[in-house]
Amino acid sequence: MCLMQFKSPAKINLFLKILHRREDGYHELASLFQTISLFDTIHFEFGENDNLTCTDPTIPCNDSNLISKALTLFRHHTGFNKPLSIHLEKKIPHQAGLGGGSSNAATTLWALNSLLPQPLPLQDLIQWGSTIGSDVPFFLSRGTAYCTGRGEKIRPMPPLPETPLVIIKPPFGSSTPEVYKALNLKKDLPSADPILHLKSFYEQKPHYFNDLEQAAFQVNPPLKTLKEKLIQCGFQTVLLSGSGSSFFCIGNASLVKLPDCEQYQVKTIHRKEDNWY
Ligand code: C5P
Repeated sequence: MCLMQFKSPAKINLFLKILHRREDGYHELASLFQTISLFDTIHFEFGENDNLTCTDPTIPCNDSNLISKALTLFRHHTGFNKPLSIHLEKKIPHQAGLGGGSSNAATTLWALNSLLPQPLPLQDLIQWGSTIGSDVPFFLSRGTAYCTGRGEKIRPMPPLPETPLVIIKPPFGSSTPEVYKALNLKKDLPSADPILHLKSFYEQKPHYFNDLEQAAFQVNPPLKTLKEKLIQCGFQTVLLSGSGSSFFCIGNASLVKLPDCEQYQVKTIHRKEDNWY
C-alpha cells in the first residue's frame, strides 16, 4: 500500500543569462526559474529494502538516479534509516531542459522530511540539495525564483500572473555539458544587467531570452529549424528551456502537426507555503 505520493513539477527558464565561466568549470548565471504544470509522480512506501522503480525503462534506477542520491543524502544528514520502496511515474521528458531529475531529488527531500516527527527547516534541504545538482534548490522554492551562482543560489520571487504555455519536445535530447561547452562566451552573450531583465517580468513587459540557445542550436542544428517553424505558427514567444531540447511557446497560434514532437499544454504554477504541489 502506498504510504504517500508527491507530484514533482517541471520548470522553464523565463530568462537565462550566462555571466562568465568559473574556475571550477561551471558557469555563473542569472536566471528566472518558473515551475509549470507538467508533473512526474513519486510514490513512497516502507519496504524490506531500499528499492527504486520507474515507468520509463530508459531511466537508470541505480545510485546515479537523483532520487537515490537524495535518499542517501537525507539518511546521511538525519540518520533516517527505514527502508523505502520508491516508484517514479515519469511524465517529464528527460534531456529536455525541464529539470525533471532535479525536481525528483527536491521532491524526495521534501517527502522524506515530512516523515520526520520534527521536520527540518527548508533551508537545510536547500543546502543539501545543491550538492546533488545546480537546479535542485530551485525546486524547493515556491515556484518562481531568481537563481544565481551555478543556479543553486535562490531568491524567492512573488508569483507572476498565471500564463498558459505549450511545451514542444523534439524526438532527441540535449546534453547540458555539451551545450555549455559549445557556448561562445564572447559572441553569444550580449551584456546587460540581469536585474533589469528580472524587473521586466514584474513591470508587465517581460523580456524572454536564453543565452544557451545559440550554443544548443550549434550542438543540435534541427533545433533552430524547429524554433523557426514554431514562430511561423504564430506564437509570440518561442524559447528554449535551459539547455534544451524543449521549447516553451506563449501566445495564440495555429499549431501544425510536428512529426515526432511531443506537445504539452501547461501553465505556470506555484505552491502555498508549507504545502507541496
Ligand atoms: O549541476 P548539474 O549537475 O546540473 O550540471 C550539469 C553540467 O552542466 C555540469 O557538469 C556543467 O558541465 C554544466 N553546468 C555549467 N554551469 C552551470 C550549470 C551546469 O557549466 N551553472
